[in-house]
Amino acid sequence: MSHADDHAGTGEGTRRDFLYYATAGAGVVATGAAVWPLVNQMNPSADTRALASILVDVSAVEVGTQLTVKWRGKPVFIRRRSPEEIEAARGTALTDLVDANSENANKPGTDASDANRTLDEAGEWLVMMGVCTHLGCVPLGDGAGEFGGWFCPCHGSHYDTAGRIRKGPAPRNLPVPVAAFTDETSIKLG
Ligand code: FES
Repeated sequence: MSHADDHAGTGEGTRRDFLYYATAGAGVVATGAAVWPLVNQMNPSADTRALASILVDVSAVEVGTQLTVKWRGKPVFIRRRSPEEIEAARGTALTDLVDANSENANKPGTDASDANRTLDEAGEWLVMMGVCTHLGCVPLGDGAGEFGGWFCPCHGSHYDTAGRIRKGPAPRNLPVPVAAFTDETSIKLG
């Protein structure tokens, strides 16, 4: 792919640099990314479409922390859950859930039990779109909200440690995109 016609000015250059960073250096954006800037408002460009799939290096993600990467113009949360988070999610009765569907593109039509939300059998890895299902804000993570998962401050939606909506106006669990481990430390999105 050629960038020979790169005459669009600094805005274009900035966007391209940013996407390159998220793709090739995903591990670097690792910690403390609680608030994602509103870059997802930008129009999709050829650069974005080119990133149908990305490979994310998760080797630097420690237990109890998360990585946020940008994929197809949106933030994706990749969380390595602590034993406490796993226990809390697995101990939740399905009858306590607002959205009974797993909302997991890898397991369509399944119920929202914790095992149907995570990427691995042990339930350590949770990958989901960082977009509130109410009106699209980016929820805050790292144990935020009344259920120790994520909290969307826009209108007060609380998600649990499996990213399932528990309280507030959001109607659905945070969606799990198509994702899979390609080796022990790499997750492919898309
Ligand atoms: S956009 Fe998240 S609660 Fe409204």
